[in-house]
Amino acid sequence: MKTVLVTGGAGFIGSNFINHILSERDDWFIVNLDKLTYAGNLENLKGIEENKNYAFVKGDIINGELIDFLFTKYSFNYVINFAAESHVDRSILGSEVFFQSNVIGTNVLLEAARRFEVERFLQISTDEVYGSLGAEGLFTETTPIAPNSPYSSSKAAADLMALSFHHTYGLPVLVTRCSNNYGSYQFPEKLIPLMIINALNDKKLPIYGDGLNVRDWIYVIDHNRAVEKVLENGRIGEVYNIGAEQEMTNIQIVKLILKHLGKSEDLIEFVKDRLGHDRRYAIDAAKIKTELNWKPEFVFEEAIERTIDWYLQNKEWWERIISGEYAKYYAEQYLTR
Ligand code: NAD
Ligand code: TYD
Repeated sequence: MKTVLVTGGAGFIGSNFINHILSERDDWFIVNLDKLTYAGNLENLKGIEENKNYAFVKGDIINGELIDFLFTKYSFNYVINFAAESHVDRSILGSEVFFQSNVIGTNVLLEAARRFEVERFLQISTDEVYGSLGAEGLFTETTPIAPNSPYSSSKAAADLMALSFHHTYGLPVLVTRCSNNYGSYQFPEKLIPLMIINALNDKKLPIYGDGLNVRDWIYVIDHNRAVEKVLENGRIGEVYNIGAEQEMTNIQIVKLILKHLGKSEDLIEFVKDRLGHDRRYAIDAAKIKTELNWKPEFVFEEAIERTIDWYLQNKEWWERIISGEYAKYYAEQYLTR
């Protein structure tokens, strides 16, 4: 039995990870530590409180006392740090909380992991640490780090800090850098859920700039299967890119959503570009494929339809979000454009 600290487990990817692990195996006891920011939602983990291998703690990863208490109480074997402020647009509006949570928070966790001698520490990083690509080429693990947004620079700091703890102290660190995820329970500030929900509400779909920016999409379950593999079988001190070779322009994604929902392309509205908008991300995932025998299992066309249908069938989930605390930001940012 391994005890595993999962931070940020009430967010989109972390909750999917916990749901996935606890439905497939009973040799992990998971402690989910989450601050429950606007993006954290325990509804993403419906029914899981009953599971004997699960405990939830509401708290902030920058709270060193709480972290020490939890490490003492549970003697974690593994730490997986999903917790982060995750939205580029918000980081442009105000960066401080990004550096608090993503950088200082990661530092607190690394220091505790070192003192308490955990077996493995997995830092969930992002392909955005590599910056932006031109029309050609892919990010490999040796591509220089060159982040462009406050979000990606805070993630790059955390990623490099984690690797430095391996180099300096021998802490058993692993880092994953994944491409853009999609799937159920993604907060409706990110491209895909935002566009689905706006389309369902016959609101305009705001596309930044010319809509030709490219992202490399991966279904969240494929990402989390890779996370599980890297944590258990990855080589200590290594970075693993994760991606599904699914490059799409934003306009292609939006048109596909409108088509699936039977809505008119007249809903599309081109708006002012995001400041410092990265043009293209694309991942070379050869390392994880050859070393760890991982490959994506979901085909984009099917998984995106599954995702759109999930939002159609789970209106209460997102209606509560867009009418609650988040409503004002959502209205200012998107609905009135
Ligand atoms: P999310 O915003 O949906 O969830 C983040 C979670 O972290 C929330 O539950 C929030 O409450 C929690 N959190 C934030 N600050 C915290 C703090 N200080 N202490 C404790 N909990 C805190 O994000 P997500 O999309 O699920 O992303 C999860 C991780 O994966 C992040 O580290 C992100 O950088 C990384 N990532 C995301 C993507 C993507 O496409 N979404 C791609 C690659 C990597
Ligand atoms: P996003 O989901 O915010 O992910 P990231 O910026 O981390 O890749 O955005 C994905 C792409 O969609 C990005 O190129 C910005 C673009 N975008 C829009 O055009 N309109 C929107 O309203 C949003 C949220 C994103």
